[in-house]
Amino acid sequence: MAGYVSDAVVKRLPAYYRHLQELEKEGVNQISSRDLGERMGLTASQIRQDINSFGGEGRQGYGYSVSGMRKHIGHVLGVDRQHRMIIVGAGNIGRAIAGAGSFPQIGFETAAIFDSDSQKIGEMIHGIPVQDIAELERFVSEQPVDIAVLAVPADKAQGIAQRLSDLGVKGFWNFAPVDIKLPRGAVVENVHLDESLEVLSFRILQE
Ligand code: NAI
Repeated sequence: MAGYVSDAVVKRLPAYYRHLQELEKEGVNQISSRDLGERMGLTASQIRQDINSFGGEGRQGYGYSVSGMRKHIGHVLGVDRQHRMIIVGAGNIGRAIAGAGSFPQIGFETAAIFDSDSQKIGEMIHGIPVQDIAELERFVSEQPVDIAVLAVPADKAQGIAQRLSDLGVKGFWNFAPVDIKLPRGAVVENVHLDESLEVLSFRILQE
């Protein structure tokens, strides 16, 4: 099992996982650090260092077992188990996430959608009914929820996250443009497309 894994390596883990899945589909059984590095745009020594840090095993001259490494990384990432998500906010973002077929495929199942707009409550979005946000406490106390998707206006996100954290929800996938503050034990992963665009703009300027 992996011990401490640095943030930089954690950010690369999904890319390792994806490349190893592709290699498995291509029928490749073993891969050297050099070939994997070429495929991923990393040096062979970087690959060896990364794999070492998350507890992967290779054999001198044989390289790495593709399926063994894919399973190991899946386990380190925790994507070899199911995650139950709820979506708060049935607007553009909430709907897009509810409709994205790839999330259930990788083990992230949407259990419920909540909104405060009476026009939206009761509506079916990709087979999931939109429930009244007033039902949040009842729902979460009755059913396990691993991750809450925050797809509400920025000024509502902190309050909703706090309510959910008080109920024991640990994971927050935050789309609202605000820094969510929660007690230790809660994990917030921000998805800010505009920040990504700003980085792109900066890089274009440098070229
Ligand atoms: P939207 O306006 O389409 O949807 C927001 C939904 O939240 C609405 O259905 C509204 O009724 C609901 N809502 C408002 N107050 C609520 C409450 N107290 N409890 C439950 N539901 C409530 O907005 P959109 O486009 O889906 O964006 C959602 C959030 O994501 C916004 O904060 C927006 O700024 C942000 N955003 C983030 C992007 C990113 O890259 N992460 C890109 C675009 C928007």
